[in-house]
Amino acid sequence: MNGLLVTGTDTGVGKTVVAAGLARLLHEAGYRVGVLKPVETGWEGPPGNWPPDARMLAEGARVDNPPEQVAPCVYAEPLAPLVAARRAGRPVDLERIEAAWRWLQDRDWVLVETAGGLSVPLTDTLDYASLAARWKLPVLVVSRPGLGTLNHTFLTVHYARSRGLPVVGVVLCGYPEQPDVAEQTNPAMIEEMCHVPVLGRVPRRPAITSADEAAAAVAEGLRLEAFLARYEELQQRVLHD
Ligand SMILES: Nc1ncnc2c1ncn2[C@@H]1O[C@H](COP(=O)(O)OP(=O)(O)OP(=O)(O)O)[C@@H](O)[C@H]1O
Ligand SMILES: [Mg+2]
Repeated sequence: MNGLLVTGTDTGVGKTVVAAGLARLLHEAGYRVGVLKPVETGWEGPPGNWPPDARMLAEGARVDNPPEQVAPCVYAEPLAPLVAARRAGRPVDLERIEAAWRWLQDRDWVLVETAGGLSVPLTDTLDYASLAARWKLPVLVVSRPGLGTLNHTFLTVHYARSRGLPVVGVVLCGYPEQPDVAEQTNPAMIEEMCHVPVLGRVPRRPAITSADEAAAAVAEGLRLEAFLARYEELQQRVLHD
Protein backbone atom coordinates (compact mmCIF):
# COMPACT_ATOMS: atom_id res chain seq x y z
CA MET A 1 0.00 0.00 0.00
CA ASN A 2 1.20 3.49 -0.90
CA GLY A 3 0.33 6.14 1.64
CA LEU A 4 0.40 9.91 1.51
CA LEU A 5 -0.22 12.60 4.10
CA VAL A 6 -1.81 15.60 2.39
CA THR A 7 -1.01 18.58 4.53
CA GLY A 8 -0.80 22.30 3.91
CA THR A 9 0.79 25.53 4.97
CA ASP A 10 -2.44 26.65 6.60
CA THR A 11 -6.09 25.89 7.00
CA GLY A 12 -8.19 26.61 3.91
CA VAL A 13 -5.31 26.28 1.40
CA GLY A 14 -6.96 23.55 -0.67
CA LYS A 15 -5.92 20.27 1.01
CA THR A 16 -9.34 18.69 0.54
CA VAL A 17 -9.59 19.85 -3.07
CA VAL A 18 -6.12 18.48 -3.88
CA ALA A 19 -6.59 15.23 -1.95
CA ALA A 20 -10.04 14.56 -3.42
CA GLY A 21 -8.83 15.44 -6.92
CA LEU A 22 -5.73 13.27 -6.61
CA ALA A 23 -7.82 10.43 -5.20
CA ARG A 24 -10.03 10.62 -8.30
CA LEU A 25 -7.04 10.64 -10.67
CA LEU A 26 -5.63 7.55 -8.93
CA HIS A 27 -9.03 5.87 -9.00
CA GLU A 28 -9.38 6.58 -12.71
CA ALA A 29 -5.89 5.17 -13.29
CA GLY A 30 -7.18 1.88 -11.88
CA TYR A 31 -5.92 2.00 -8.30
CA ARG A 32 -8.01 1.04 -5.29
CA VAL A 33 -7.97 4.22 -3.25
CA GLY A 34 -8.76 4.82 0.42
CA VAL A 35 -9.14 8.20 2.12
CA LEU A 36 -8.97 9.25 5.75
CA LYS A 37 -9.57 12.49 7.61
CA PRO A 38 -8.49 11.29 11.09
CA VAL A 39 -10.00 14.31 12.84
CA GLU A 40 -12.54 16.67 11.26
CA THR A 41 -13.52 19.74 13.23
CA GLY A 42 -16.18 22.36 12.60
CA TRP A 43 -19.04 19.98 11.96
CA GLU A 44 -21.94 18.99 14.16
CA GLY A 45 -24.26 16.95 12.03
CA PRO A 46 -25.87 13.80 13.41
CA PRO A 47 -23.74 10.63 13.65
CA GLY A 48 -23.86 8.69 10.39
CA ASN A 49 -23.92 11.84 8.24
CA TRP A 50 -20.99 13.07 6.22
CA PRO A 51 -18.76 15.89 7.43
CA PRO A 52 -17.82 18.02 4.38
CA ASP A 53 -14.12 17.15 4.00
CA ALA A 54 -14.75 13.43 4.49
CA ARG A 55 -17.58 13.60 1.96
CA MET A 56 -15.47 15.25 -0.72
CA LEU A 57 -12.59 12.84 -0.09
CA ALA A 58 -14.88 9.82 -0.28
CA GLU A 59 -16.56 11.08 -3.44
CA GLY A 60 -13.15 11.79 -4.94
CA ALA A 61 -11.95 8.26 -4.24
CA ARG A 62 -15.37 6.77 -5.02
CA VAL A 63 -15.42 4.79 -1.79
CA ASP A 64 -18.73 3.71 -0.34
CA ASN A 65 -17.78 2.89 3.23
CA PRO A 66 -19.60 4.71 6.06
CA PRO A 67 -18.59 8.23 7.20
CA GLU A 68 -17.27 6.94 10.54
CA GLN A 69 -14.52 5.10 8.69
CA VAL A 70 -13.43 8.16 6.68
CA ALA A 71 -13.78 10.67 9.55
CA PRO A 72 -13.52 8.59 12.73
CA CYS A 73 -13.25 11.54 15.09
CA VAL A 74 -15.40 14.67 14.68
CA TYR A 75 -15.79 17.87 16.74
CA ALA A 76 -18.28 20.68 16.40
CA GLU A 77 -16.00 23.62 17.01
CA PRO A 78 -13.80 24.69 14.07
CA LEU A 79 -10.54 24.42 16.02
CA ALA A 80 -7.30 22.46 16.05
CA PRO A 81 -8.10 18.89 17.17
CA LEU A 82 -6.44 19.12 20.61
CA VAL A 83 -8.16 22.42 21.36
CA ALA A 84 -11.56 21.19 20.18
CA ALA A 85 -11.02 17.97 22.16
CA ARG A 86 -10.16 19.81 25.37
CA ARG A 87 -13.11 22.14 25.08
CA ALA A 88 -15.47 19.25 24.34
CA GLY A 89 -14.06 17.23 27.26
CA ARG A 90 -13.53 14.32 24.86
CA PRO A 91 -9.95 13.39 23.92
CA VAL A 92 -9.11 12.49 20.33
CA ASP A 93 -9.80 8.76 20.09
CA LEU A 94 -6.57 7.28 18.73
CA GLU A 95 -7.99 3.77 18.93
CA ARG A 96 -10.79 4.67 16.52
CA ILE A 97 -8.32 6.43 14.23
CA GLU A 98 -5.97 3.43 14.23
CA ALA A 99 -8.90 1.12 13.52
CA ALA A 100 -9.91 3.24 10.51
CA TRP A 101 -6.30 3.19 9.30
CA ARG A 102 -6.02 -0.60 9.70
CA TRP A 103 -9.23 -1.02 7.76
CA LEU A 104 -7.59 0.70 4.74
CA GLN A 105 -4.55 -1.56 4.51
CA ASP A 106 -5.83 -3.54 1.54
CA ARG A 107 -5.94 -0.42 -0.66
CA ASP A 108 -3.33 0.42 -3.34
CA TRP A 109 -3.28 4.05 -2.20
CA VAL A 110 -4.39 5.77 1.00
CA LEU A 111 -4.57 9.55 1.20
CA VAL A 112 -4.75 11.06 4.69
CA GLU A 113 -5.74 14.71 5.14
CA THR A 114 -4.59 16.75 8.13
CA ALA A 115 -6.73 19.32 9.95
CA GLY A 116 -4.63 22.44 9.51
CA GLY A 117 -0.86 22.00 9.15
CA LEU A 118 1.76 19.46 10.13
CA SER A 119 2.51 20.76 13.63
CA VAL A 120 -1.15 20.91 14.66
CA PRO A 121 -1.63 18.78 17.80
CA LEU A 122 -4.10 15.93 18.16
CA THR A 123 -3.12 15.05 21.73
CA ASP A 124 -0.65 16.37 24.32
CA THR A 125 2.11 14.34 22.71
CA LEU A 126 1.06 13.69 19.10
CA ASP A 127 0.87 16.08 16.15
CA TYR A 128 0.27 15.28 12.47
CA ALA A 129 4.00 14.85 11.90
CA SER A 130 3.99 12.15 14.60
CA LEU A 131 1.03 10.47 12.91
CA ALA A 132 2.85 10.52 9.55
CA ALA A 133 5.94 9.03 11.18
CA ARG A 134 3.90 6.35 12.93
CA TRP A 135 2.17 5.37 9.67
CA LYS A 136 5.31 5.90 7.52
CA LEU A 137 3.57 8.43 5.29
CA PRO A 138 5.50 10.74 2.98
CA VAL A 139 4.12 14.27 2.89
CA LEU A 140 2.53 16.34 0.13
CA VAL A 141 2.39 20.04 0.95
CA VAL A 142 -0.47 22.14 -0.42
CA SER A 143 0.45 25.83 -0.54
CA ARG A 144 -0.99 29.11 -1.69
CA PRO A 145 0.50 30.41 -4.91
CA GLY A 146 0.96 34.07 -3.95
CA LEU A 147 3.02 36.42 -1.85
CA GLY A 148 3.85 34.96 1.58
CA THR A 149 3.95 31.36 0.46
CA LEU A 150 7.74 31.07 0.29
CA ASN A 151 8.11 31.36 4.05
CA HIS A 152 5.08 29.20 4.88
CA THR A 153 6.15 26.48 2.45
CA PHE A 154 9.76 26.53 3.58
CA LEU A 155 8.76 26.23 7.24
CA THR A 156 6.42 23.32 6.53
CA VAL A 157 8.97 21.42 4.44
CA HIS A 158 11.66 22.13 7.01
CA TYR A 159 9.48 20.88 9.88
CA ALA A 160 8.63 17.71 7.93
CA ARG A 161 12.33 17.02 7.36
CA SER A 162 13.17 17.76 10.99
CA ARG A 163 10.74 14.99 11.93
CA GLY A 164 12.31 12.59 9.40
CA LEU A 165 9.41 12.70 6.95
CA PRO A 166 10.11 12.46 3.21
CA VAL A 167 8.48 15.31 1.28
CA VAL A 168 7.04 14.25 -2.06
CA GLY A 169 6.55 17.81 -3.21
CA VAL A 170 4.42 20.91 -3.18
CA VAL A 171 1.13 21.59 -4.95
CA LEU A 172 0.06 25.19 -5.37
CA CYS A 173 -3.71 25.45 -5.17
CA GLY A 174 -5.66 28.34 -6.62
CA TYR A 175 -3.18 29.37 -9.29
CA PRO A 176 -4.71 32.30 -11.20
CA GLU A 177 -5.06 32.58 -14.95
CA GLN A 178 -3.09 35.80 -14.90
CA PRO A 179 -0.42 35.36 -12.22
CA ASP A 180 1.26 38.39 -10.69
CA VAL A 181 5.03 38.54 -10.33
CA ALA A 182 5.07 36.67 -7.00
CA GLU A 183 2.85 33.93 -8.42
CA GLN A 184 4.98 33.67 -11.55
CA THR A 185 8.26 33.39 -9.66
CA ASN A 186 7.17 31.36 -6.59
CA PRO A 187 7.17 27.85 -8.14
CA ALA A 188 10.85 28.01 -9.13
CA MET A 189 11.77 29.79 -5.91
CA ILE A 190 10.05 27.11 -3.81
CA GLU A 191 12.05 24.44 -5.63
CA GLU A 192 15.26 26.39 -5.09
CA MET A 193 14.62 27.06 -1.39
CA CYS A 194 13.04 23.76 -0.39
CA HIS A 195 14.74 21.27 -2.74
CA VAL A 196 11.44 19.61 -3.55
CA PRO A 197 9.50 19.63 -6.83
CA VAL A 198 6.41 21.75 -7.33
CA LEU A 199 4.25 18.95 -8.69
CA GLY A 200 1.17 20.94 -9.53
CA ARG A 201 -0.51 24.29 -10.03
CA VAL A 202 -4.20 23.70 -9.51
CA PRO A 203 -6.06 26.48 -11.31
CA ARG A 204 -8.15 29.01 -9.40
CA ARG A 205 -11.82 28.49 -10.18
CA PRO A 206 -14.75 30.72 -9.18
CA ALA A 207 -15.67 27.97 -6.69
CA ILE A 208 -15.10 24.28 -6.11
CA THR A 209 -18.05 22.62 -4.45
CA SER A 210 -17.86 18.97 -5.50
CA ALA A 211 -15.34 16.17 -5.90
CA ASP A 212 -15.99 16.26 -9.66
CA GLU A 213 -14.99 19.92 -9.80
CA ALA A 214 -11.97 19.24 -7.60
CA ALA A 215 -10.96 16.35 -9.87
CA ALA A 216 -11.28 18.49 -13.00
CA ALA A 217 -9.16 21.29 -11.49
CA VAL A 218 -6.50 18.88 -10.21
CA ALA A 219 -6.40 17.04 -13.54
CA GLU A 220 -5.69 20.36 -15.22
CA GLY A 221 -2.94 21.37 -12.80
CA LEU A 222 -1.14 18.15 -11.90
CA ARG A 223 0.28 15.37 -14.04
CA LEU A 224 -0.37 12.04 -12.34
CA GLU A 225 2.62 10.40 -14.07
CA ALA A 226 4.97 13.04 -12.67
CA PHE A 227 3.50 12.60 -9.18
CA LEU A 228 3.82 8.80 -9.38
CA ALA A 229 7.38 8.98 -10.70
CA ARG A 230 8.45 11.32 -7.92
CA TYR A 231 6.71 9.18 -5.28
CA GLU A 232 8.44 6.05 -6.56
CA GLU A 233 11.83 7.76 -6.68
CA LEU A 234 11.40 8.93 -3.08
CA GLN A 235 10.39 5.45 -1.88
CA GLN A 236 13.50 3.95 -3.52
CA ARG A 237 15.67 6.54 -1.84
CA VAL A 238 14.12 5.89 1.57
CA LEU A 239 14.64 2.12 1.10
CA HIS A 240 18.31 2.60 0.26
CA ASP A 241 19.08 5.09 3.05
N1 LIG B 1 -8.46 25.94 -6.99
C1 LIG B 1 -9.49 26.45 -6.34
N2 LIG B 1 -10.32 27.32 -6.95
C2 LIG B 1 -11.38 27.83 -6.28
N3 LIG B 1 -11.71 27.55 -5.01
C3 LIG B 1 -10.91 26.68 -4.36
C4 LIG B 1 -9.76 26.10 -4.98
N4 LIG B 1 -9.17 25.29 -4.09
C5 LIG B 1 -9.89 25.37 -2.96
N5 LIG B 1 -10.94 26.20 -3.12
C6 LIG B 1 -11.94 26.55 -2.12
O1 LIG B 1 -11.28 27.10 -0.98
C7 LIG B 1 -11.86 26.61 0.21
C8 LIG B 1 -10.81 25.86 1.01
O2 LIG B 1 -10.40 24.72 0.29
P1 LIG B 1 -10.23 23.32 1.01
O3 LIG B 1 -11.44 23.00 1.80
O4 LIG B 1 -9.77 22.31 0.02
O5 LIG B 1 -9.03 23.72 2.01
P2 LIG B 1 -8.41 22.86 3.19
O6 LIG B 1 -6.98 23.19 3.23
O7 LIG B 1 -8.80 21.45 3.02
O8 LIG B 1 -9.16 23.48 4.46
P3 LIG B 1 -9.30 22.81 5.94
O9 LIG B 1 -8.11 23.28 6.68
O10 LIG B 1 -10.59 23.39 6.43
O11 LIG B 1 -9.35 21.32 5.79
C9 LIG B 1 -13.04 25.74 -0.20
O12 LIG B 1 -14.21 26.52 -0.21
C10 LIG B 1 -12.67 25.31 -1.62
O13 LIG B 1 -13.81 25.03 -2.40
MG1 LIG C 1 -9.92 20.24 4.29
